Amino acid sequence: MRIALSLGLAALFLTASMAGADDKDKPKYTTKEVMKLAHGKDKGMPSLLTKITDGKGTDEDKKKILELYEALAKNPTKGDAADWKKLNDAIITAAKDVVDGKEGSVAVLKKAAACGACHNGHKGK
Ligand code: HEC
Repeated sequence: MRIALSLGLAALFLTASMAGADDKDKPKYTTKEVMKLAHGKDKGMPSLLTKITDGKGTDEDKKKILELYEALAKNPTKGDAADWKKLNDAIITAAKDVVDGKEGSVAVLKKAAACGACHNGHKGK
């Protein structure tokens, strides 16, 4: 009885602290920030994504873009939530493969991160 009770309490605590963690799980970058940092051109320099898809990205660049895309997925969308998740899941999976150096992953990422495909349904006017 006593054990069951403390187990129950422990479960309660766990759920409570998990809910708390969830609350703090705010995206590290807004969608606009991700667009700027991953896709924006800086003083004539290619964007981070272009650098990577051109095969010139360093390991740091690859980790950075994965971090950006993971934040992107946590941001709300103006469009269909299921479609947003699908697009972001594909991009994150591809970016992870790029970090891992999986063969052909750069081409997959380039296709997954297609600007228009996402902007059409999610960028708003
Ligand atoms: C997975 C979805 C997605 C993909 C892929 C994507 N974008 Fe975006 N982008 C958005 C959304 C959503 C917005 C609107 C953000 C807002 O208004 O808050 C946006 C906005 C932008 C903006 C305007 C940012 C601003 O400050 O208003 C630029 C520039 C941009 N994207 C560039 C690109 C380029 C270039 C690519 C392709 C290499 C790309 N995006 C791919 C979702 C995406």
